[in-house]
Amino acid sequence: VNKRNGIKGLADTGIEAVPQLYILPPEERLEPNSISTHHSIPVIDVSNWDDPEVTESICQAAGKWGFFQIINHGVPLEVLDAVKEAAHRFFGLPSEERNKYWAGNSPTETVALKTSFAPQSETVLEWKDYLSFRSSPGDLESFPLWPPVCRDEVVKYLESAKPVIRKLLEILLKGLKVKEIDKAREYSLMATPIVNFNFYPRCPNPELTAGVRPHSDISTITILLQDDNGGLYVRATDDNSWIHIPPVNGALVINVGDILQIMSNDRYKSIEHRVVANGSKDRVSVPIFVNPGEDAVFGPLPEVLESGEQPLYKEVVFSDYFKYFFSKKHEGKKTLDFA
Ligand code: SIN
Ligand code: FE2
Repeated sequence: VNKRNGIKGLADTGIEAVPQLYILPPEERLEPNSISTHHSIPVIDVSNWDDPEVTESICQAAGKWGFFQIINHGVPLEVLDAVKEAAHRFFGLPSEERNKYWAGNSPTETVALKTSFAPQSETVLEWKDYLSFRSSPGDLESFPLWPPVCRDEVVKYLESAKPVIRKLLEILLKGLKVKEIDKAREYSLMATPIVNFNFYPRCPNPELTAGVRPHSDISTITILLQDDNGGLYVRATDDNSWIHIPPVNGALVINVGDILQIMSNDRYKSIEHRVVANGSKDRVSVPIFVNPGEDAVFGPLPEVLESGEQPLYKEVVFSDYFKYFFSKKHEGKKTLDFA
């Protein structure tokens, strides 16, 4: 396994065919005729967050598609571009510089470089390396140990995205009859954001591989910045086809994660999605996974069950759910069985 040098190290050797270790069995590949030609995910202009039309579109999209894009969200384009460039800079470092950050060897546990998703339990690996930044309260004390080529950009991006995260959660929770996000709610919704630099090197045979296998996120919500290569596909809930999320300059892709689906007792949907690497270019994406605090206990919200509705899930501790997710390969929506 290319664990020590990652898929980036492998791609840099100039290979012209994908090694066996990355070749999916035919039934797991993205069938071209399963790609939707008639669905599209809403792009919502949020320049006026409090406009009832805007809040309604957001809650509706979360219930129907589990995914939407937002534009005019207030995070400056320069900040978005800078963080994507920073991701390219990090992966463009000489391998010995980059490899200092491998999980387990990194100078700080708040920054970790990884390859694929759960290589210990995958027989076919995903065509992706990623650098993960943990940014719970206190984590920024290790900032001096973060990679100098990208750390300022990550912090700046996270800071600029925070008001957007807060606004989205307020709107989505209001849609569940929760009046305000107090301190306790804040902890159980958004205490431990994780920022990833996903790096998908140019792939000689993208149709044979998975950039990322179909999975749902475990977060409350995920904010994703993608580049202009495209390659992210989302499951359509009506006919199971795969909908491509087209890159929109300056937009952020928002999706509901398992935890918000559970809290909403299925009003909002955590939808399966997958990534196909690019045949001619390196692709980067920068998600922020908005996660509850480690010890937070979550389940269907009392506000949702108020009128006597049966809870569809039991209560779970976030750190247990998190560990379960990372103990197995990406497999559709299977993590939800844990709740
Ligand atoms: C993911 O869902 O894990 C990654 C999404 C992307 O890179 O577009
Ligand atoms: Fe995801």
